[in-house]
Amino acid sequence: MLKNAGATLLPLIEGLRAAGAVGLRYAADSRRLADAIRASPAGLFLRELLETPAGVGAVWPSSERLARGMAAQVDPRGGGLVVELGAGTGVVTRALLDRGVPADRLRVVERSPAFARHLRQRFPEVAILRGDAARLSDVLDESAAGGPVDAIVSSLPLRSLEPDVVSAVLGQCRALLRPGCPLVQFTYAPRGLPDAGLSDGFVVRGDLAVWTNLPPARVVMLERAG
Ligand SMILES: C[S@@+](CC[C@H](N)C(=O)[O-])C[C@H]1O[C@@H](n2cnc3c(N)ncnc32)[C@H](O)[C@@H]1O
Repeated sequence: MLKNAGATLLPLIEGLRAAGAVGLRYAADSRRLADAIRASPAGLFLRELLETPAGVGAVWPSSERLARGMAAQVDPRGGGLVVELGAGTGVVTRALLDRGVPADRLRVVERSPAFARHLRQRFPEVAILRGDAARLSDVLDESAAGGPVDAIVSSLPLRSLEPDVVSAVLGQCRALLRPGCPLVQFTYAPRGLPDAGLSDGFVVRGDLAVWTNLPPARVVMLERAG
């Protein structure tokens, strides 16, 4: 009788043990996957988005197509600085370097400490300046990283930042860019300028729709008026 019960229970116990092992493996794999997502650029982006939605102002990092579209507006051969504002995970920084902008002429200004840390690890050869684009010239001077500016490439969310911050940022761009030099800005707005202040001191040179971005975006090309 006992022998029969043992014969019946044994497969059941073996089955439970196997299921337990699979469960543990699954839990460990899920934990590893969650850690990998947390450590990835997309995970960092989502964390920053939850923390400062208006400061990030986007639901997902820029696509490579959008980044290349922005970088294509910059002439890599000039002698002055190329300043990137609001670099986030660094997709546009990568595109600017791939475009041929020398690392020692690139200045990247990012307000979030977590993004700035990530950018420093990803681009040790580039000056990553943690600071507010609304104080751009001070941020450049404080790091002894200033100089004539040939181009400004901005991923700042002009439509969700506070109006006084946007006004200060645009004032800095007007003051630092020389006449004829480009200001490149992306926007999710389907038409027009992302901020009315851009019509003061800048001339629109064209725009470029990028459908392969989440959501679709536009690169707006402006030039500092003479
Ligand atoms: C739309 S997200 C950047 C997207 C980026 N191209 C990417 O793919 O990760 C906007 C970025 O601007 C930064 N930012 C917002 N306000 C800023 C400010 N006043 N000065 C500098 N950076 C700012 C945010 O921290 C964020 O990294």
